[in-house]
Amino acid sequence: MNKWAIAAALIGAWFANPVLAAGDAAAGQAKAAVCSACHGADGKAIQPAYPNLAGQHPQYIAKQLTDYRDGNRVNALMSGQATNLTDEDIQDLAAYYGAMPKIEGVASEENLELGMSIYRGGITAAGVAACAACHGPAGEGNPTAVWPVVSGQNAQYTADQLRYFRSGERANDPAAMMRGVAKRMTDEEIDAVANYIAGLHATP
Ligand code: HEC
Ligand code: HEC
Repeated sequence: MNKWAIAAALIGAWFANPVLAAGDAAAGQAKAAVCSACHGADGKAIQPAYPNLAGQHPQYIAKQLTDYRDGNRVNALMSGQATNLTDEDIQDLAAYYGAMPKIEGVASEENLELGMSIYRGGITAAGVAACAACHGPAGEGNPTAVWPVVSGQNAQYTADQLRYFRSGERANDPAAMMRGVAKRMTDEEIDAVANYIAGLHATP
C-alpha cells in the first residue's frame, strides 16, 4: 500500500467508527425519558439551576456526557445519570436535544450594561478576553471547535458554571480556556455577564 492508500483506509475507518457516527434523534427521544424529569420534555430545564439543552451543539452535548461518564466533570445530580450510557446512547441523546428549537430567555435590566460590555469586549484591566471571541456575537458558539451555545441559558446555571471554573471544581475545559477566563472575574462580573447571556438570541 502506498501512503495515499493508507491515508484513505484510515479515513474510511474513521467514518466507519460508530463512536464518531452522527446520532439518531428518534432513538435519542426514547432514551431521554429519564432526562426530561430535569431537563424538560422540550429541553427547557425545570428549574434555573439546571441547564437547558434544546438547540445545544450535539458535539458539545456528547463531550459533556462523556466527561460525566468518565469522571472528568463531576456533579452530584448529573454524574449518576451518565454512568451507564454507551457511546451510541450519547450520540443519540446529543442528536435529539441538539435538533430541538432553542430556548429564548430574558435578561433583567439590572447590570445589563456591565454584562454586555464584558461579553462583547472582555475586561481589559483584568486581562479577560471577550466572551464573544469564542462564543460568538449572538452566543451561538462553534460546533466544529466544540464551543457551546451560551445564549438563552438560565442565568443561575451560567453563573454557577463560571464559579465552578473559577474554583477549579469544573476542569474539563480544553487548554483551561474557561478557567483562565473565570479566575479573573469577580462575583459581580459573573452575575452581570450571566444575566446578559440569558437574553441573547443565537437565532438571528
Ligand atoms: C436529577 C436531575 C437530572 C437528570 C435526571 C438529568 N440531568 Fe443532566 N444535568 C442536571 C444538572 C443539575 C446539570 C448541571 C450539573 C453541573 O453543574 O455540572 C446537568 C447537566 C447536563 C448536561 C451538561 C449541559 C451543559 O450545558 O454543559 C448535559 C448534556 C445533560 N445534563 C444531559 C442529560 C441527559 C442526556 C440526561 C438523561 C440521560 C440527564 N441529563 C439527566 C440534572 C439532571
Ligand atoms: C478562548 C475561548 C473562550 C473564551 C474567550 C470564553 N469561553 Fe466560555 N467556553 C469555552 C469552551 C471551549 C467551553 C467548553 C468547555 C468544555 O468543553 O467543557 C466554554 C464553556 C463555557 C460555559 C459553560 C457552558 C455550559 O453549558 O455549561 C460558559 C457558561 C461559558 N463558557 C461562558 C463564557 C463567558 C461568560 C466568557 C467571557 C467572560 C467566556 N465563556 C469566554 C471557550 C471560551
